[in-house]
Amino acid sequence: MIGRLNHVAIAVRDIGKAASLYRDVLGAEVSTAVPQPDHGVTTVFITLPNTKIELLEPLGENSPIAKFLERNPDGGMHHVCYEVEDIRAARDSLRQRGARVLGDGEPRIGAHGKPVLFLHPKDFSGTLVELEQR
Ligand code: CO
Repeated sequence: MIGRLNHVAIAVRDIGKAASLYRDVLGAEVSTAVPQPDHGVTTVFITLPNTKIELLEPLGENSPIAKFLERNPDGGMHHVCYEVEDIRAARDSLRQRGARVLGDGEPRIGAHGKPVLFLHPKDFSGTLVELEQR
């Protein structure tokens, strides 16, 4: 069902510092920081030859990554994102197999402008999984 790894997301406290680490120390191609008020995060995308890294910094009062950073003060891997052909079909089949879909189960438009859903980390070896329709 799942296809390519679209990105690995890393939550950070200081996105400027993290971006410069990837650009200046690791020599990667790094985007500018984009505030995404609808999602409560500022994002930077790092383009690697085979996938992307998404840096996330909390934005605003109720950022969805605030609690994660309280538990992981140095930052850390927040989620992995896999591509699927048909997000509603993927959701229905995952639910049938007992996986929990977060929220109301309706795909939302994610940081890339494509429909996304999140799956409960407890059902996937402790890792939050994002599905993105290709
Ligand atoms: Co993501």
